[in-house]
Amino acid sequence: MCGIIGYTGSREALPVLIAGLEALEYRGYDSAGLSLGGQLVKKVGKVAVLKAATAELTDTTATTGLAHTRWATHGEPTEANAHPHTDATGHIHLVHNGIIENWRELRAGLEAQGIAFYSATDTEVLAKLIGHHYTGDLLAAVRTALALVRGAYGIVVWSNDAPDTLVVARLGSPIVLGITDDGRYVASDPTALLPYTKRLVFLADGEVATLTPTHHQVVSVQGDIYSGKEEEVSFDIEVAKKEGYAHFMEKEIFEAPSVLENAIRGRILPDHSGVKLGGLEAVAGEVATLSQLTIVACGSASFAGQLGRLMLEEYVGLPTTVEIGSEYRYRRTLAPSGAGVLAVTQSGETADTLASIKLAKDNGLLTLGIVNVVGSSIARETAAGVYNHAGPEVAVASTKAFLSQLTVLSLLTLFIGQIKDTLKPEDRATILRDLARLPDLAKTVLESASHIKAIAEKYKAMENCMYIGRKWHAPLAYEGALKLKETTYIHAEGYPAGELKHGSIALLGPDFPVIALAPLDEVYEKTMSNVEEVKARRSPVILITTDDNHGASEITPDVIEVPKVHPMLQPILTTIPLQLLAYYIGVARGLNVDQPRNLAKSVTVE
Ligand code: AGP
Repeated sequence: MCGIIGYTGSREALPVLIAGLEALEYRGYDSAGLSLGGQLVKKVGKVAVLKAATAELTDTTATTGLAHTRWATHGEPTEANAHPHTDATGHIHLVHNGIIENWRELRAGLEAQGIAFYSATDTEVLAKLIGHHYTGDLLAAVRTALALVRGAYGIVVWSNDAPDTLVVARLGSPIVLGITDDGRYVASDPTALLPYTKRLVFLADGEVATLTPTHHQVVSVQGDIYSGKEEEVSFDIEVAKKEGYAHFMEKEIFEAPSVLENAIRGRILPDHSGVKLGGLEAVAGEVATLSQLTIVACGSASFAGQLGRLMLEEYVGLPTTVEIGSEYRYRRTLAPSGAGVLAVTQSGETADTLASIKLAKDNGLLTLGIVNVVGSSIARETAAGVYNHAGPEVAVASTKAFLSQLTVLSLLTLFIGQIKDTLKPEDRATILRDLARLPDLAKTVLESASHIKAIAEKYKAMENCMYIGRKWHAPLAYEGALKLKETTYIHAEGYPAGELKHGSIALLGPDFPVIALAPLDEVYEKTMSNVEEVKARRSPVILITTDDNHGASEITPDVIEVPKVHPMLQPILTTIPLQLLAYYIGVARGLNVDQPRNLAKSVTVE
């Protein structure tokens, strides 16, 4: 959940550290700190506060350093709890992303040996432990200490005995190295390294590496020494900049046409006879014999999973369940033979989803992934999968990645229907036709942004809100509510429309607006009867429907229309107004929509 950056080379390290933290700030932003040539600066608040404080540094010319932006797990956001943490001598500095689970007993053991602590963090325990085992060889001390800890970590360690050397390690939390002629870089994710290089080494779980200005060496779990598997990433830094938009969230919503284009590019066969998913070809045989699929994910990705379930059951008859990662990983899984598990994840680093995939592998199940971040842990842990190619998603609230997840899930449905021969030709034809139309249709939806902004302005002061929908739009009601909660801090709930009268309708009234997701489809009439029940309680209604619904304005004055497409794909277009509403209301309330309070972009701890 935190962001880590480190550098050792020929150039001054401070600008690299600050720029790196700014690129990683979406991972956590309650406090930050850095170590430069043995000097420490730690501050509560955003990276900008730390940047200003670097004026305190007596010498900024050092060419080796490490830095950290924090999302607190143990110990409040204070200067003492901010990273880097030090050993008892103060000569070893460490930054950490993850959680040391057995920190209490380790701390007690060290305190019993007279070692004093200054913070309430699990990380300081690791720094003290390394110092305790240090006899001049930092790599050895780090490996000895790591053998004693339980939990997840991505760490960078420095000692003043070898001022141009960094030791880094990972278990569960992402660590990627950047290779250049001017030095060696390390970070929690590639976006912080793209300004300098596309030559990356993704450290695997259990690996430890030593970086010097001209050299890097990776020690595998077995202790084998090698240079690490270098990979070249496809996306560039420009994609990660705001490109004239006020916020990353706004930019990423308006990327919908190109994101849809990238998700389907090269995957619809030229003659529209079917789809091609290169990443699944190696396991096509196993996919063809799948008896049951479990989709495992967290947050927005789990709502995408719920739509995936509807797609797979409705059109290819594959029994599918959806599991929340944090529950699935601790539950006994009853998976019949021939079952598979599909992880859906933007970051590819969500700890609960990663652990669920490892559990599924241990149970001998086929593991698949729909992942956005190339080379991420879940992409490498699963047997096969499909990349979203949505580019880096910087805003904490998932928008373009969610849209891309729905699109790739529909491609997967066509793929499985194709190899299981369970998809009706007429469905395949219509779905393929409308899939290819989605990028242009998304442009049409975005053209109504100012209308949606006007509705957002009208409702910006609300303190409660209910999203309702049926069938395809029931899972989307959950996603709509989550988006609003994340970016506006308004209490919002998503509900299957037919479920309201079983209790939650008691909440409704003039100060509790309802957003009804109701395209003109097979369940429209049913949803409208629920809307009438809501209006009878005098709740204001916003109706999101399809452009063939000519009676919509009789229902409510606040109508948002989207183009009509195949029912399975309709949520892809209906999602965009939900994202814009949440964005505009968040901005109208003066909030930081890119970095909402208490959140972080990828949840790498439990
Ligand atoms: C969504 O807006 C949130 N950022 C969050 O719920 C997110 O979807 C969840 O943490 C899963 O992340 P992942 O897709 O990277 O696994």
